[in-house]
Order: sequence, then C-alpha cells, then structure tokens
Amino acid sequence: MRETEQKAAKAYTEKFGGTPDLVASAPGRINLIGEHTDYNGGFVLPCAIDRRIAVAVGTGEGGLYSADFNETREPGKKDDSWADYPRGVAWAMGEEGHEADSFRAAFAGDVPLGSGLSSSAAIEAATALALDALLGLGIGRKDLAVLCQRAENDYVGVASGIMDQYASLLCEAGAALLVDCRSLEARSVPLDLAAAGLALVVCDTRVERGLADTGYNDRRSTCESAASTLGIEELRDATEEDLKRLSGEELKRARHVVSENARVLEAVEALNNNDFNRFGHLMYASHASLRDDYEVSTPELDTFVETAKQHGARGARLTGAGFGGCAIALVPEAQSDKVKQACEQNFAEADFEKPAFYEFVPAAGAELANKPG
Ligand code: GLA
Repeated sequence: MRETEQKAAKAYTEKFGGTPDLVASAPGRINLIGEHTDYNGGFVLPCAIDRRIAVAVGTGEGGLYSADFNETREPGKKDDSWADYPRGVAWAMGEEGHEADSFRAAFAGDVPLGSGLSSSAAIEAATALALDALLGLGIGRKDLAVLCQRAENDYVGVASGIMDQYASLLCEAGAALLVDCRSLEARSVPLDLAAAGLALVVCDTRVERGLADTGYNDRRSTCESAASTLGIEELRDATEEDLKRLSGEELKRARHVVSENARVLEAVEALNNNDFNRFGHLMYASHASLRDDYEVSTPELDTFVETAKQHGARGARLTGAGFGGCAIALVPEAQSDKVKQACEQNFAEADFEKPAFYEFVPAAGAELANKPG
C-alpha cells in the first residue's frame, strides 16, 4: 500500500476499531493543455499527479473522519466542509438508485489543498471507487466520473466541468489523458518525460483563488451566450470563420475556446511524434490566450511563465481554472533548479507570496489498494 493508503487504514482502525473492508485512493491532476474547454464540449489533456487522497471504508456507523484535519463529521448533513465531497458522492449514488448511506470512512491525503490541483476531485473519486467496491455496484469508471461531477455540481454546488473527475479516475501512469468532453471518450497518450530529459515543474503561486467561483461562472455564461449568438449548441462547434460574427467579450472568450481546442489536438500529435518543442510552443500559446482572451491569469502566473521561458523551458502555462493556483513548465532536467531559483527571486522582487514548487511524473489514476492485514 502507498503511504497515504496506510495512513487512511491506520486512521480507520484508530477511530472505528477493526480493519477497514477496503482502501482506495485517487490522485490530483495537472492539465497539460486544454483549459476552459471542458464545459464547452471540447478537448482536454490532463495527467494525474503522484499526490493522492486515500479512503479506508467499512460498513457501519461512525461517520467520516479526516486524519489530516483530525476531525469527524456526520455523514448526512451538508456543512460546507471537506465532508461535503464524500457526502455528495453518496448522495449522487442514491440519486442513481444505489443506497450508499451506511458506511464509515477515514481519509488521509497529500494533495495540496486549494491550489488548483483538484484535491476535491481526488476525494470524490476515491470515495466513489471505494463505495462502488464496498457495495458491489460494478459501475464503470466513466460513469463514476460523471457521478462525481454530479456530486460536485448539484450537491457541493460548484459548476465545474468533467475534466478533473475524469483525470482522477481514468489517467494511467506514464501517460496523459485525451478527453473529448462531448462524447466523453478518453484515451491515454504516452508521456515519457524522463526519456526526453524533461521535468514537469509546477509552481504554486499561493494566490487565494478567492474570485475563482464568480470568475469561472462568468466565463461559462459568456461562452453559453456566444454559442447562442452563433446559433450553435456549444462553442466546440464554432469555427474561426464564425468568430467574425462575434464581438466584445463573446469574441474574446470564444476565440480562446476555438484556438485552444485546436491546440489540444495538435499537442497530442506533437506528443505522438515526441516533438516537445512543438508541444512547448503550444503551451506558451495557450497561456497567452488564457491571459489575453480568456483573462484568467494573474501577475504571479505570468511571472512564472516568463521566468521559465527565459531559463530554457520548452513550454509553460497556467494550469486549471486560473485566478491564482498553479502554473506548469516543461523544463530540461538540468535547468529545473535554476528555473525555481529565478522564479523565487522574481517573486520576491515583485513582492509576491513565496511560491511552492513541485515536480510530478504522470501518475496512476484511482485504484483500490490491497486489503490491509
Ligand atoms: C476547473 C474545473 C474544470 C475545468 C478547469 C478549466 O479545474 O474544475 O472542470 O473547467 O477549471 O479548464
């Protein structure tokens, strides 16, 4: 078992006594390219990170226990805490006709919280996989992801797209995941960074994603109104030609979505050809589009991207919703410390918060651990 899985199992035993029936864990994610395209029916290319949230479950009473927060919450009532994610999953299972209310669970994890690395999708995915196995439901991975999205949208009340839940449940180690967010088809795209001598450097800007919800919802509704101006279902269907019929904010947002969808498909082709230069250019172009047309970047994210570029990164961009959170860079391994040092210095000079850095390799999606004991 992984360390987080062992920690969850131990917490279960300490809290509830006995051994859990099973342990599952699910990862956070970064998105390589394809931002703000999922809720427009477009393409995304995330990969799972080697930071996970684990859950140990069993039948019976006792509630939901978090080893990281050292607190127990009742299963039933929504209270705007971390426990709403597992509650939401149980609720969504109930909505699908599966009774999932008599279980107890202990959680432990190491996904950075509130940094845009999808800790919420990780806790949902781990819970969903664990409950599916505990109750013998046999729900497929894609349906579990949709169920988790439903928990997030309709129970927790966050209008996110499908990317994060798909990434957490369907990614494979050593690969990115291309998702067509309309058909919900997904396939792995091999991503061997070590063979290319590259490191995936993640910069957590530590900027509160405070306006994230409002900004995110605003972007979504402008996309919907742009689609309706064009008389199409979703911006996925818009072409460059169509953009001529838009103006103002609708034009800017739609131009990002149309160009970003094209970049994702080109990026997959680049990866298939091991062409990291081209891949990197697409990352820079994605960032510029998110900064100028979608307007979800921050001075901190821009500073990281510029600094990485000056120090030899093949590509860099903000990842996730924006408005703070994290940016990523593909950096020759030998340069990665230099990029981090220069970034730290530039942040200090600009009086930004001290950033945190991580390096990830594309990791495995949600898994059931071997039965403890
Ligand atoms: C958040 C949402 C995702 C996606 C990204 C932007 O992470 O949860 O569904 O929309 O923002 O690409």
